[in-house]
Amino acid sequence: MARTALLNVMVQAATKAGRSLARDFGEVENLQVSRKGPGDFVSQADTKAEQILREELQRARPKFGLLMEEGGEIESKDGQHRWIIDPLDGTTNFLHGIPMFAVSIALERQGQIVAAVIYNPIMDELYTAERGSGAFCNDRRLRVAARKDLPDCLIGTGIPFIGVGDHGRALKEIRHVMGEVAGIRRCGAAALDLAWVASGRLDAFWENGLNPWDMAAGLLLIREAGGYVSDANGKQKMFETKSVVAGNEFTHLQLHELLAKACA
Ligand code: IPD
Ligand code: CA
Ligand code: CA
Repeated sequence: MARTALLNVMVQAATKAGRSLARDFGEVENLQVSRKGPGDFVSQADTKAEQILREELQRARPKFGLLMEEGGEIESKDGQHRWIIDPLDGTTNFLHGIPMFAVSIALERQGQIVAAVIYNPIMDELYTAERGSGAFCNDRRLRVAARKDLPDCLIGTGIPFIGVGDHGRALKEIRHVMGEVAGIRRCGAAALDLAWVASGRLDAFWENGLNPWDMAAGLLLIREAGGYVSDANGKQKMFETKSVVAGNEFTHLQLHELLAKACA
């Protein structure tokens, strides 16, 4: 598959940062057994990956702005383009030696997400999408799963942890959903969860309390794989409400309705 110059820039940045993370991930296992644990080491790995992304993306497109999880926001010079990046999505997995984490890069043009790359360096899975041109994993075209009925469906979610989010709401939602579906997964990296909805591994996904860098790339992947995304209110205000519901035309609607009932 021939990639555009823009997507090439993104893929090069994501794979370079991903290789750096993969090298550091090898060290985490050694540090796991030390008293201090690998916490500081992991935040250095995260910062290093963000630095790589920033350098690569700024060198290739100096006028574009940046929204970074660690480094905050840099205004664009052209007033049109902004990279939205998460250098390490799935930090807790990484910290515990669980090989499910990813680099996520999205490009926003005039407020619309137009290109996306998510890279899991351990599984060597590279997810790419450009608006109007479909979604791919390692050059294989992606389609969302075709299952229509929730009892057959595997649903991904995110669960808030100590000190963050609305624990009561999460419990209500899970209680409501678990009795209606084949299974619920909490994989620990929202960018990958969304990529897995695009690839059909998960039939649907929901989470509250996400930031733009967790979801921007994944939202485009799902749309380009023929899926549907909205916020918890059924609107396209995912960044503002920090909530996402995603699936195919059937599962998206049914999950949205179930979640609305859970909190009614
Ligand atoms: C987190 C992961 C996790 C989600 C959290 C995010 P991080 O991102 O995506 O799955 O449940 O809300 O903050 O901190 O690993 O980049
Ligand atoms: Ca994240
Ligand atoms: Ca992160």
